[in-house]
Amino acid sequence: AFPQTVRLVEVGPRDGLQNEPEPINTATKLELIERLGAAGLSYIEAASFVSPKWVPQMADHREVMQGIRRREGVTYSALTPNLKGLEAALECGVEEVAVFGAASEAFSQKNINCSVAESLDRFAPVLERAREANVRVRGYVSCVLGCPYEGEIAPAKVAEVAKALYDMGCYEVSLGDTIGTGTPLKAKRMIEAVARDIPMDKLAAHFHDTYGQALANLYAVLEEGVAVIDSSVAGLGGCPYAKGASGNVASEDVVYLLDGLGIESGIDLNALAATGTWITQAIGRPNRSKASVALAAK
Ligand code: HMG
Ligand code: MG
Repeated sequence: AFPQTVRLVEVGPRDGLQNEPEPINTATKLELIERLGAAGLSYIEAASFVSPKWVPQMADHREVMQGIRRREGVTYSALTPNLKGLEAALECGVEEVAVFGAASEAFSQKNINCSVAESLDRFAPVLERAREANVRVRGYVSCVLGCPYEGEIAPAKVAEVAKALYDMGCYEVSLGDTIGTGTPLKAKRMIEAVARDIPMDKLAAHFHDTYGQALANLYAVLEEGVAVIDSSVAGLGGCPYAKGASGNVASEDVVYLLDGLGIESGIDLNALAATGTWITQAIGRPNRSKASVALAAK
């Protein structure tokens, strides 16, 4: 059955911007974060404490994390692949972080330079240190519906990595269709496999829209009871280690879908759409949210 309310995790400032080739001002990132909070997003992934050599666009992670004008009721999180990243994030007052693994060996090597098993060994001390600091940790699994290097990924492999993250202490596991190749029945089967080991209310759907399937895939997993959705304003983004992958599903389109289904999200669609119009103009990108484009033309 459909959930009554859905929590959106806005990943635009991180997933949406990490792949932009031209530098984006820290001030622009901060204004984006501010506007997203004003539109009602209660969870914003703001930065990524990764190597600036690997992802130059996220090199200003400290300035971003420290520059946020924090709003009551909004969680501002950051990616932290290892202890070095976590320590830096803690120094900047982060209240929640995320580790990111993959269901594909080849993708794990390309993205974080280690095997899946090694990545789990690196995450364990991150979770331990975060627990000491009273910081919650979210876990990502990439390539849950396909890998740019290995192709098909078995749902059992996704379930195995998701369970490892959950057992390690991740309070929620976000399932990433990194390259957006999934289709609804595959998405449904993958969620069913993962939900055998992890309660449905601890799972999130993180779908990229490369093949235009993200909303259909979300509909399929909403029906299964998934109640946390990752999305990116204006559909910004792509992963630097997944060539050709396009942005996340657009937050505006997800809110329009949820509104139509009578599912509560607490988000002001008009304010969100205006934010999408603003950021795409600011960075010179097309607006990939159909709802936003339609609302702007009204
Ligand atoms: P490595 O080279 O194996 O690490 O990289 P290392 O420990 O050997 O360190 C190498 C260098 O990186 C050293 O610097 C370290 O200090 C530095 P050097 O001595 O060469 O000057 N370093 C760091 N600098 C800043 N912050 C850190 C950090 N750690 C080491 N935390 C590492 C391993 C994970 C660091 C690297 O592979 C990396 O940064 N990868 C980033 C990958 C990434 O950000 N990908 C995009 C995000 S994932 C994604 O988009 C998918 C998702 O959206 C879900 C989905 O869609 O599926 C989440
Ligand atoms: Mg992603």
